[in-house]
Amino acid sequence: MAVVGAGYWGPNLVRNFQSSPDFRLAWLCDLDVARAKKVLGGYSTVQPTDDLALVLADENVAAVAIATPAGTHLDVAMQALAAGKHVLVEKPLAATYAEGVELVAEAERRGLILMCDHTFCYTPVVTRIRELVHSGEIGDLQFLDSVRINLGLVQRDIDVLWDLAPHDLSILDFILPAGVEVVSVSAHGTDPIGAGRACIGYLTLQLSTGAIAHVHVNWLSPIKVRTTIIGGSKRTLVWDDLSPTTRLAIYDRGVDVAAPEELGDEARRNLLVSYRSGDMVAPALLEREALSTMVAQYAAAIRTGTPPLTDGRAGLRVLRILEAASASLRAGGVAVRLDTDGGIS
Ligand SMILES: NC(=O)c1ccc[n+]([C@@H]2O[C@H](COP(=O)([O-])OP(=O)(O)OC[C@H]3O[C@@H](n4cnc5c(N)ncnc54)[C@H](O)[C@@H]3O)[C@@H](O)[C@H]2O)c1
Repeated sequence: MAVVGAGYWGPNLVRNFQSSPDFRLAWLCDLDVARAKKVLGGYSTVQPTDDLALVLADENVAAVAIATPAGTHLDVAMQALAAGKHVLVEKPLAATYAEGVELVAEAERRGLILMCDHTFCYTPVVTRIRELVHSGEIGDLQFLDSVRINLGLVQRDIDVLWDLAPHDLSILDFILPAGVEVVSVSAHGTDPIGAGRACIGYLTLQLSTGAIAHVHVNWLSPIKVRTTIIGGSKRTLVWDDLSPTTRLAIYDRGVDVAAPEELGDEARRNLLVSYRSGDMVAPALLEREALSTMVAQYAAAIRTGTPPLTDGRAGLRVLRILEAASASLRAGGVAVRLDTDGGIS
């Protein structure tokens, strides 16, 4: 196993691959070899290097994990696939949808695993949310509202939508029941500090069922909020990731309009709106680091040849929405449709 990229996120991959019983980490590659050395410390058996070709020529290396900036994912991942290695790429899968398509096609052509690290999909809380949505326990999905804001690192190459929204979009992609799809995206954003790219972004996604999803991402908020509300016809889920004791709350509260259609809209509204005010339950969740589950999935995918939960195609679905969001942002927030042929209009 080799990890490429020893910046902010790479060390988390290093730690998890080192503690995995499935892998033996042999290399840590970074253009800045001093950085790789510092991450490994003085007594590691892992070899630091700045030479990717050397790593890829090592026949003992079966798989790589790439934690370099998004703009380099295509180049680094393509080299790894060409050398016959399985590839895990950090989110977002690539810098554009077209680049993502190239990666997926190349991995499929070579019969290699291409996985995208949509980390949140491997958290116990998102796993539980997915079960609650898929089992029908929350009823029909009516809305999803996600807020991911704090004083964030203003990125040099990407705006806040491409930096933070991949998390919300990959979670949405992961929990949506089969057959429910995002059909259009509108995005608004602003850059009040003159950073050259949107630092505050709002996404509104229309789903094929008529449900709506909204995502707020922001690098300029003095307080940190990580809250997602998932409203269903039977239950509503409130996920507050900053509250370890009540990370997930399941509310049996909501509004019903229990009236026959033939009464007409006005009469139904006036007569038969009822409010449910039942219990709130906070389920017990495992405390397990998402990356260790993700690493185990990567190993299982390589062993069995079965695509992981967050494969290259899942990465592509997220890229498609991000591209539509960028198109909408450029056009002042107009709704951009996701066409069934894979394009946007
Ligand atoms: N899954 C998550 O929750 C999560 C969190 C943060 C970042 N990320 C992702 O991780 C990736 C890296 O982000 P970061 O914040 O660590 O970036 P970073 O800038 O801190 O680190 C990137 C490192 O890659 C090295 N590098 C760049 N090009 C290279 C190349 N061609 N070959 C070898 N090394 C190269 C740089 O020298 C640097 O050390 C991004 O895709 C980012 O979106 C994921």
